[in-house]
Amino acid sequence: MSPLRLGINVDHVATIRNARGGTHPDPVRAAHTAVGAGAHGITAHLREDRRHIRDEDVARLVDELKVPLNLEMAATAEMIGIARRHRPHAVCLVPERREEVTTEGGLDVAGQRDRLRDACQALAETGSRVSLFIEADPVQLEAAVAVGAPVVELHTGSYCSARGPGQDREFARLADAAARADRLGLECHAGHGLDFETVGRIAAITTLSELNIGHFLVGAAVFTGLAEVVGRMLLLMEAARAGAPVTAR
Ligand code: PXP
Repeated sequence: MSPLRLGINVDHVATIRNARGGTHPDPVRAAHTAVGAGAHGITAHLREDRRHIRDEDVARLVDELKVPLNLEMAATAEMIGIARRHRPHAVCLVPERREEVTTEGGLDVAGQRDRLRDACQALAETGSRVSLFIEADPVQLEAAVAVGAPVVELHTGSYCSARGPGQDREFARLADAAARADRLGLECHAGHGLDFETVGRIAAITTLSELNIGHFLVGAAVFTGLAEVVGRMLLLMEAARAGAPVTAR
């Protein structure tokens, strides 16, 4: 049985930061907090349009993190150049369409073998472990082996959004793909859309070795943390009115 690691995706912290254009909340600080809470790695997606993570975030994550950084990106010349300069522990190649809200669907590895073989080789040369974000599809798994990727990440989005028998079918597809990946000698990760409800069955698949989770956790952290920060703000306001020294930290 593979030990199961948790990678935290900090893109959504950057999305909130970018809404105001300043530096708060800092996704790198969120990464440190996640690591302090026991996360085994950090994931960040540098998109072509830089809508959340930016180049300087990647540089700081590479510099500061003591745990593996998994850089998600499209297999473009620009992104491959950035990854080769920064040499993150891992690179997860994802499909990317400018108009999508989040990564929709997996990479068509079978349909672009030559391009992805070159990308895997270029990234492996500078020491990054490459994973391919794919649907739980035997054809894509075989193609991942053929292009020389050591790792695949299975897209759990359809499983997470399905309900009832449809969700059972999606789960069976993921479980079969994880077993097949193992037989093919691929390290197998999973992610997208996972939350407290959906993580249990996925985490129980013994051939998975890593889950990458972001959106739900950043959203849930608002509810876990909001009472504490409101209380802190009230204390600061009351102290100010009482003429007491006010310290922000
Ligand atoms: N893994 C990959 C390859 C992704 O693209 C994403 C979303 O950026 C995730 C995991 C995390 O998904 P979510 O934010 O829905 O938990």
